[in-house]
Amino acid sequence: MNVDSLLDMALTARFHAYAPYSKFKVGCAILLKNGQFVTGCNIENKSYGLSICAERNAVFKLISMGYTKNDVEAVCVVGDLKEPIMPCGACREVLMELLSPDTKIILSNLERNYIELNLNDLLPYAFKINEEL
Ligand code: THU
Repeated sequence: MNVDSLLDMALTARFHAYAPYSKFKVGCAILLKNGQFVTGCNIENKSYGLSICAERNAVFKLISMGYTKNDVEAVCVVGDLKEPIMPCGACREVLMELLSPDTKIILSNLERNYIELNLNDLLPYAFKINEEL
């Protein structure tokens, strides 16, 4: 996996963020096993609670395009912070629902100072319901 090109895609996605209220732009890129990318950015709303984070935007796009967790190689998130960005709790839950716990997650700032971990590190002891449901 080429981390630089994945970071490039997340940084480009961030460019499209609509964040007039927080002024905090976030980009996310999901690398597929077929080499393609699905990207997302945060999109805010004047009714603040309707805003969507970059990670959820990207993973909802992934599913709506017909892909599944089995198609995903890695996820990258970027934001303008001194440290690598950390996804919010809501995004951790949604990513855990739709991706595999061992999915590689790259978290970065704009200087490409990144850390790599997996989804299970971000949401250990995740909420589960019976498998047959
Ligand atoms: N945001 C994301 O896009 N991802 C996160 O993981 C945390 C927060 C967005 C939501 C809001 O538009 C802005 O960043 C400030 O919270």
